[in-house]
Amino acid sequence: MTTLRAKLAMLIAVVIISVVSILTGVLVYLLNPPDERHALAPLADQVQLLAKVARVEPALAPIQQTPAEGAIETDVTLWLRETLEARGAPRDVVVSRNSQDMPMLSIAVEQGWLVTQITDLPPSVGVFNIISMWLGLIALGAIAIALFFANRMVKPLVLLERAIESVGPDALLPELAITGPAEARVAAEALNSLSSRLKVALESRMRLVAAAGHDLRTPITRMRLRAEFVENDDDRRMWLKDIDELAGIADSAILLVREDSGKSAPEPLRLDTLISDLVGELQTLSYDVTLIGSAQTIVRANRTSLNRAFRNLIINAATHGKRARIAVQSTSSQAHVVIDDDGPGIPPEVIGQVFEPFFRVHPARTKDIDGAGLGLTIAHEIVQRAGGSITIENGPLQGLLQVVKLPVDQTPQSAPA
Ligand SMILES: Nc1ncnc2c1ncn2[C@@H]1O[C@H](COP(=O)(O)OP(=O)(O)OP(=O)(O)O)[C@@H](O)[C@H]1O
Ligand SMILES: [Mg+2]
Repeated sequence: MTTLRAKLAMLIAVVIISVVSILTGVLVYLLNPPDERHALAPLADQVQLLAKVARVEPALAPIQQTPAEGAIETDVTLWLRETLEARGAPRDVVVSRNSQDMPMLSIAVEQGWLVTQITDLPPSVGVFNIISMWLGLIALGAIAIALFFANRMVKPLVLLERAIESVGPDALLPELAITGPAEARVAAEALNSLSSRLKVALESRMRLVAAAGHDLRTPITRMRLRAEFVENDDDRRMWLKDIDELAGIADSAILLVREDSGKSAPEPLRLDTLISDLVGELQTLSYDVTLIGSAQTIVRANRTSLNRAFRNLIINAATHGKRARIAVQSTSSQAHVVIDDDGPGIPPEVIGQVFEPFFRVHPARTKDIDGAGLGLTIAHEIVQRAGGSITIENGPLQGLLQVVKLPVDQTPQSAPA
């Protein structure tokens, strides 16, 4: 009973049932139906009168040997007998309904049974039972109507809730439809505008990162020149190594915006071939990389960019995750590349930030794995631009599970290289 839907349904049902109950009570009071027992007094008069007629003028009375046929109205028969007894004129009587549903009165007289038709009787089930049934039916109807309208009223909120749940790691909301009641439309409009402002802010942050990378290039070149003149060989090597790393970070930052602007046209290409070539190349560079499955599949993307995206993901698995296992799978509409590893995974409290520029689990540089924290940001940009998605989660036992989904290229004339 904690959901808004249940509360609304309850409110609507309670309102309908209360209003109808009060109105029914007022109606019953105003119409004031006669009590069944009171209604029997004229019938008892009739019995006494007819019995008298049968005795005085038997020829006038329709006499037969048995009571009227049909279902006996037990309650009314019993009450009529009691009424006659109370009047000091006990008599055997039977009230029944014949096959045409007409109420019949059979009075025991000396010659047999005097049978006559009577006016309709008040229902023997009683007014209270009828009102209970009536209210029961109204309650059922009210609950059905209440559920229907409560469902309709909370539908926009359910849509908003689903939309908010579908916020990806890039913090962007899908465009919400502006429908439903005014409050839901206002909320959807506000969320849409928030989402688009967020998108603009994210894009400008990317551009800022790239601009910084670009501006770093000149001083890095100057530093390299100066480093060449360091006399001590060890010192010079160390300087040059650090400067190379700095240059790598600046290049990655610049790539972010290049990927973002997406000038190069996508082409149909064999994803399985691209991955197996990449795996071969990384193996020759001594990365621990294994291809464990390769289904033939064609996707549409920019070859160099897609290669870069998978290179970043696979190198992450082979370095941060110790060794990479890759499988290319394919359904009729989607290609999946599943990359898993044997590393420590990413702590759950920060896993939502993996696609942010410069995100590193351990921001202080580790001794053996250099990096800028831009590889995943770039891979994410590229895959999204190709119409796909990357999900990153910790494996059930250990390691990180990275799954890239890309739409399969359905164009019939596509002839991938
Ligand atoms: N397979 C993995 N296992 C464990 N941690 C990972 C894995 N992949 C990425 N990470 C964590 O996510 C961080 C961000 O990865 P990302 O590829 O963006 O940057 P990077 O590898 O540090 O540097 P580079 O820009 O050179 O790729 C990494 O620093 C690492 O802490
Ligand atoms: Mg990386």
